[in-house]
Amino acid sequence: MSDTLPDVTHHGDATADEGHTPARVEEPLPNPGLAPHQWRPTDVDPKAERRAERQVAGLFLLAILGVVLFIASYVVFQVGDNPDTIGHFGASNLALGLCLSLTLLAMGAGIIQWARKLMADHEIVEMRHPAASPQEDREATVGILQTGLEESGLGRRPLIRNTLLAAGGVLGLVPVIMLRDLGPLPGDKLDHTIWDLDTWTPAEQAWWKTQGRTLQRVVRDVIGTPIKLTDLEVGDLVNAEPEILFAVDDNQQPIVDGTERIAATAKAAVILHRMNPQEIVSAQTRNWSVDGIVCYSKICTHVGCPISLNERTTHHLLCPCHQSTFDLADSGRVLFGPAARALPQLELTVDEQGYLAARRDFTQPVGPSFWERG
Ligand code: FES
Repeated sequence: MSDTLPDVTHHGDATADEGHTPARVEEPLPNPGLAPHQWRPTDVDPKAERRAERQVAGLFLLAILGVVLFIASYVVFQVGDNPDTIGHFGASNLALGLCLSLTLLAMGAGIIQWARKLMADHEIVEMRHPAASPQEDREATVGILQTGLEESGLGRRPLIRNTLLAAGGVLGLVPVIMLRDLGPLPGDKLDHTIWDLDTWTPAEQAWWKTQGRTLQRVVRDVIGTPIKLTDLEVGDLVNAEPEILFAVDDNQQPIVDGTERIAATAKAAVILHRMNPQEIVSAQTRNWSVDGIVCYSKICTHVGCPISLNERTTHHLLCPCHQSTFDLADSGRVLFGPAARALPQLELTVDEQGYLAARRDFTQPVGPSFWERG
């Protein structure tokens, strides 16, 4: 044992230490030097080298297989309104994710094996240099800090210092409080909108009685004017809202106002789009349209951005946030992007005076899809 322990010797002036236990100072460990270089089996054995080469190539082939399966999954599995599933998960998303994971894992493992077993194996020594700044730089920095501290008067003004520290501490509460906005989940609050007359307040019902009509009109947003079929040309896209949002009482005050109005607008906003009736693909879209005019929720089913980027000729609607694309000719089907379900369609008709009106509320919840939805 004693051979491996650090050498311990006595130092210092024997006279000065007289009468005391002599000081014992540990010498630094002797420099162990570098161990002799160990050659890897692949450096000295051609068979091992070829084996490693085949392993790396096999991993890269596995990565290629992952890409082939990725493309096949994209083509084979259905998404949209009736997606294929595996367990409770969408088959397409699951398969795409697994195939891409396999590809990336195999690529990474192949590169690591290549570097470990086949790339050049040199040992190099890099001497360590002191990382500390020169003493004069450190003194200058301390001097600058001290001057700043003195000039700010922080030491002489405890009131300011303490209130500043308190303000900084309290500021940390802001993000904590904002976490509260992550919940609660909306539950069934997005299942109905103000397009549904049965959800109206007594004041809204009272106003409706004065109108003497049975169907709520789809009116232009911001200005609230009703829309006739002839107001829209093929290819047009118009932002619209339910007419109750523009109703006023006898004192010209809005019937729906304040936060109720903001929430109702956010849920009930729609877009109208006109196309040639022959271009409509799905039966639902045809049955719920009037002379080629279709109406859809304006709220993206991904995370709820308002949508109105329209491709006139293809009838595709693009969300500017993450590029989800919906087919207005085919029940709002998702064509591209992260949205998981179709854009809810509103059933249109014309009322007694020939204005566009909604037959009923949306039959699907509007807005983003949440995990608790069936
Ligand atoms: S919110 Fe529309 S694609 Fe994300």
